[in-house]
Amino acid sequence: MRGFGFAEHGGLDRLGFVEIAEPVPGPGEVRVRVRAAAFNHLDRFTLEGIPGVPVERPHVLGSDGAGTVDSFGDGVTGFSPGQEVLLNPGIWDGTCEGCRAGHESYCRNFRILGEHTQGSATTFVVVPARNVHPRPERLSWAEAAAVPLVFQTAWRALRTVGALQPGEQMALIGAGGGVTTAAVQVGKLLGARVVVAARNRGKEAAVRALGADDFVEFDADHPLDKALWQASSKKGFDVIVDSVGTPTLPRSIRALARGGRVVVMGATAGPMAEVDVRTLFWRQASIRGTTMADAAEFSEVLGHIAAGRLRAVIDSSRPLDEAVAAFQRLGAPDLVGKVVLTLP
Ligand SMILES: NC(=O)c1ccc[n+]([C@@H]2O[C@H](COP(=O)([O-])OP(=O)(O)OC[C@H]3O[C@@H](n4cnc5c(N)ncnc54)[C@H](OP(=O)(O)O)[C@@H]3O)[C@@H](O)[C@H]2O)c1
Ligand SMILES: [Zn+2]
Repeated sequence: MRGFGFAEHGGLDRLGFVEIAEPVPGPGEVRVRVRAAAFNHLDRFTLEGIPGVPVERPHVLGSDGAGTVDSFGDGVTGFSPGQEVLLNPGIWDGTCEGCRAGHESYCRNFRILGEHTQGSATTFVVVPARNVHPRPERLSWAEAAAVPLVFQTAWRALRTVGALQPGEQMALIGAGGGVTTAAVQVGKLLGARVVVAARNRGKEAAVRALGADDFVEFDADHPLDKALWQASSKKGFDVIVDSVGTPTLPRSIRALARGGRVVVMGATAGPMAEVDVRTLFWRQASIRGTTMADAAEFSEVLGHIAAGRLRAVIDSSRPLDEAVAAFQRLGAPDLVGKVVLTLP
C-alpha cells in the first residue's frame, strides 16, 4: 500500500511516497479506510528523527485521520463497515496504573499514531477500537481530520492543566499553528479573555475572527514580556500557552500574574530555556507540561465540536498525490490552521 512519508530520517528532501504492508486488524482493533489525513508539527520532528523514539521504516506520516470503517478484529462490537469515523491519535495500553485511574495520557506505554506507529497519510490505518469515534455530522472529511490532535491538546492544556477559569486572562504565543487556532476558541469557550502574541500582524485578522480579544506583536525592540504586560493591563496573565520554547519561555514567565501558569506542550524553536526561579516563587507561579489528553477529555471536546461550539480551522487541503507540497506549508509564515490531505 502506498503512503506518504520517508524511508530515511532527515530534511524535507527525504519526503516522498513509500510502500508499506496493508495493516490487518488484530483483536480489539479497527481498520479504517482513510478519506482525509492532517499534519502536525510532530510530523516534522518524526521526519527529522526524535532521540529515543525508534521508528519503523519506511514510515508513513500523519497523526490525524478520518474515514470509513473497513473491517475489525475479534472482540470488536458496535461498528459496522462503511461507518464514518474519526480517529483519536493518542494510543494507550489500558492496563497500567495511569490507564486504570482514567488518566490515559499518563500511560506508561503512551504512543501517538504516525509517530510511534505507521500514520494516516495512506489508504488504511489500524487503531484500537476505543480510538474510533463517529464523525460529527456537521464536519466534512477534511474538517474531521483537522480536529483530533490539536483540539484534545488545547482542551487538556487549558481546562485541566492550565485550570483556566471564567474571567481569567490567557495569552497564546504564536498565531498560526494548529494548537493556537484551537486554543483561541477553547479559551473563549471557557470564558477567558484571550490575547495572541506573535512576531508580526499578518495573522491578526484570522485569530480575531476565531474570537481573540486582542493581538500583540513582539520582536527584539518590543520584547514579549513587555508587550504581554501592557496587554494584560499590567496585571499579568493567569495562563500563558507557550510551545515556542527557547526564545520566548523566559519572557512568558515574566508576564505571569500572581498564581499564573505557563503551560507547555512543545518547543517549536528549541527546548532549552533559562528560568529565574525568583519570579516563580514570588508570584507563586508555575510551569506545567501537558501532552495530548485523557479519553474522557477527548470525548468532551469532540462533543463541543459536534455541537458547533468549536470549529476546525483548515489552512489548506490537497489530494494525497500533492502531499509533498502540502507538507511544505507547515511552518510557512502565512500558515493559519491545519494542513489536510484528502483521499478518494
Ligand atoms: N505534547 C503534545 O501533545 C503536543 C500536541 C500538539 C502540538 N505539540 C507541539 O506544540 C507546538 C505547536 O504545534 P502546532 O502544530 O500548533 O504548530 P507549529 O507549526 O509548531 O506552530 C508554530 C507556532 O509557533 C510560532 N513560532 C515558531 N517559531 C517561532 C519563533 N522562533 N519565535 C516565535 N514564535 C515562533 C509560530 O508563530 P507565528 O504564527 O507567529 O508564525 C506558530 O504559531 C509544536 O512544538 C508541537 O510539536 C505538542
Ligand atoms: Zn497505560
